[in-house]
Amino acid sequence: MSTQIAPSLLAADFARLAEEVEMINQSDAAMLHLDIMDGVFVPNISFGFPVIRSIAPLCKKPLDVHLMIVQPEKFIPQVKALGAQVMNVHWEACTHLHRTVQAIRDAGMLPAVTLNPATPVSLLEEIIGEVHMVLLMSVNPGFGGQQFIESTLRKVEKLRTLIEQNRSRALIEVDGGVNAITAPRLVEAGADILVAGSYVFRSPHPIETIRELAAL
Ligand code: DX5
Ligand code: ZN
Repeated sequence: MSTQIAPSLLAADFARLAEEVEMINQSDAAMLHLDIMDGVFVPNISFGFPVIRSIAPLCKKPLDVHLMIVQPEKFIPQVKALGAQVMNVHWEACTHLHRTVQAIRDAGMLPAVTLNPATPVSLLEEIIGEVHMVLLMSVNPGFGGQQFIESTLRKVEKLRTLIEQNRSRALIEVDGGVNAITAPRLVEAGADILVAGSYVFRSPHPIETIRELAAL
């Protein structure tokens, strides 16, 4: 098993959340990816802290929280209180990204920075040494089930180069449109962690689907 898989709960059946989390527990998933939206930073609203508080105690996998919200720094204590291991903030949402990354680490979480499809990896040059992970969006954030943006593959390669040039140990995570076609190409390009929503939760055999992705 070489690729870490982070199923996105956004694509789960919200009427059966406990069962969906138990499926993740039984699977080869490395983390559970949680997409929080505010209807301002992205044109959609998903679920918030009360819902995650209910399911977090059921989840045996680390929580990878992806905040698609403005001013994510305001919510560091709430994300920590969920028991999250990784807190992802968008580069586009942080005026003082360096301060926010330090505050996430000071709170005892692993800081990750997320880039929208149009945001170049070169903008990470001064922060790449400080982050645990970079999350590249391979769709425009806000919705599951969108088509993979092809230029992400080149972006993964550029990010790998930036990481090596700066002797950083940052991991590369990719989010959006991950499936049996795109996943091997992303791994080949240098991705360490793949977020998969629809492809996992719409699968008739999600545990098997996660196993196949993790074996890439
Ligand atoms: C999009 C979210 C993704 C999304 C991925 O805004 O950040 O995590 O759930 O969904 P799929 O895998 O269906 O593209
Ligand atoms: Zn996400």
